[in-house]
Amino acid sequence: MKDSVRALAAEFKQFLSTREEDDLMPAAYTQAAAHVSAPSKADAPAQDHLTIEFVREKKKKAVSAATSAVVSATQNNAPAGAANAQEISLPISQPMPQEKSMSAAEKQALLDEIAEEIKSCKRCPLCKTRLNAVPGEGNPNATLMFIGEGPGFDEDHQGRPFIGRAGQLLDKMIAAMGLKREDVFIGNIAKCHPMVNPENPEAHGNDRAPNAVEIAVCRKFIERQIAAISPKYIVALGGVAAKALISDTKSLGALRGKFHLLHLDSVELKAPVKILATYHPAALLRNPNWKKDAWADLQMVMAEMGLQRPQA
Ligand code: URA
Repeated sequence: MKDSVRALAAEFKQFLSTREEDDLMPAAYTQAAAHVSAPSKADAPAQDHLTIEFVREKKKKAVSAATSAVVSATQNNAPAGAANAQEISLPISQPMPQEKSMSAAEKQALLDEIAEEIKSCKRCPLCKTRLNAVPGEGNPNATLMFIGEGPGFDEDHQGRPFIGRAGQLLDKMIAAMGLKREDVFIGNIAKCHPMVNPENPEAHGNDRAPNAVEIAVCRKFIERQIAAISPKYIVALGGVAAKALISDTKSLGALRGKFHLLHLDSVELKAPVKILATYHPAALLRNPNWKKDAWADLQMVMAEMGLQRPQA
């Protein structure tokens, strides 16, 4: 084995053996450690298990990418030293890079670009029957996003998300959290109106949930919107959105009541996003006795975000 590969293997070992909490320690701690005795972990900000899981997954991906690079450099008989850490840009033993965050204007420009792509998308048959694509709307700098399954009749007619009866209830849920609609970003997994009878877009009561193919084809758009906004929290409205975003086939009942780590297929997140599933407002209109549980879900998000219920 070449020395460079041996050295790389040793660095991998070291990289893997560091605790995820260490990777999350602010750079100041690492620098201070060079000058003073080791900082106490108790002084570092507390990291919850979802954040630690996020870093662990980043590590796994980096290690697997780097391992492939080493294997291919070795198999290609690269000259000695070619497979060193710098040349294959490994994050070995380095703190997690602090990626530059975008300004609100830059995020908005990116969201506008994605919205234009959505409006001209012809990747699935829903494009043939939509009156308007519904990219989503809201604060490009939102800490919190609400994501539903797909546009209904009203949304299809106006090209805006959650503006029908379910949307009015969602507005009330947002207000009960002490927020305004403009504070958050509201979007859907599917961007065009899935219809039971696609020949009749003018019919009421013609909505259906997007199917697996429509979700698979469309999900790159919501993933890019999430990556652009970089929220801290997402509330998935209903089982379809929850299963797609949590990448879990369990029932909504089983997914509710706790935060999950968001998993995206097509883009890499810079920071962990916590996602909480709750009932879709349309389901709450049909079953008002579920509102108590939905409110308990929203209160979990409020507690994390430090939000107070507004005084009546
Ligand atoms: N239901 C959804 O899931 N999304 C909307 O935009 C409207 C209703």
